[in-house]
Amino acid sequence: MLTFIGLGLFDEKDISLKGLEAIKNADMVFAEFYTSRLMGSSLEELESLYGKKVNLLLREDVEISPDWLAEAKDKNVAFLTGGDTMVSTTHVDLRLRAKNLGIETKLIHGSSIASAICGLSCLQNYRFGKASTIPHPYTSSRGVTVISETPYDTIKLNKEHNMHTLVFLDIDKDKGYMTVNQALSLLLQVEEKRGEGIMENAIVVGIARAGSEAPVVKAGYAHDLKDEDFGEPLHILVIPASLHFIEAEALVGLLGAPSEILEGLDD
Ligand SMILES: C[S@@+](CC[C@H](N)C(=O)[O-])C[C@H]1O[C@@H](n2cnc3c(N)ncnc32)[C@H](O)[C@@H]1O
Repeated sequence: MLTFIGLGLFDEKDISLKGLEAIKNADMVFAEFYTSRLMGSSLEELESLYGKKVNLLLREDVEISPDWLAEAKDKNVAFLTGGDTMVSTTHVDLRLRAKNLGIETKLIHGSSIASAICGLSCLQNYRFGKASTIPHPYTSSRGVTVISETPYDTIKLNKEHNMHTLVFLDIDKDKGYMTVNQALSLLLQVEEKRGEGIMENAIVVGIARAGSEAPVVKAGYAHDLKDEDFGEPLHILVIPASLHFIEAEALVGLLGAPSEILEGLDD
């Protein structure tokens, strides 16, 4: 049996009781922390709570050669992931591989950034469109820095349909955790190049360390929040569509957005 277990948002205490019980009953425990991470806990703290060794997997161990899967043919194997195990990951591929090997699978869910952002940003969950990820820029073979324009296009498309955009921020083993500041700076550089007015006067919401005792959540114009301090990672960004009156009131009253955004909105 292979049990996928979502560990939740921030530290070792975010796991569900069902998840913890499943780990305690597992013969072997594997984890990947390249899609998300519990920034409030070390691997040692997790192992100490579980009373078990946790075998850390690299991306290639999960996506290219998951040889460890064979252990689940005759053992109880737990596979741990930050957040909810199937949200913005490619782990359904592992489920399919397991099925082809005759291994049963089970999911135990964890709290996810995908739902946490609705509470923290005060934006209504049914108004979110397609999500996007901002990757770190890379240098082309000709030595040119390349900034992906895909997130800008997704925001544009969602705005055309009056939908909010959730923007995940890249985690890279060499370049580190992208911040809200880097993400906004990249989006504004694309804006400058294309001049389509998508980000120029956009109100955005930046969120840091969801699930911790002290998450930072700020709303304001992109060019202002670009220079705000959000502290330690993980960070995430939301680009709202036009705001419902209640959403706008919450952004102003709870998240520090300028009160001028309330002008002209019907209650
Ligand atoms: C690829 S998504 C994986 C989501 C995860 N499976 C889940 O359900 O929460 C990871 C990205 O979400 C954001 N993220 C995840 N946890 C976060 C947290 N606690 N606070 C802020 N952003 C977070 C970061 O931008 C991070 O790079």
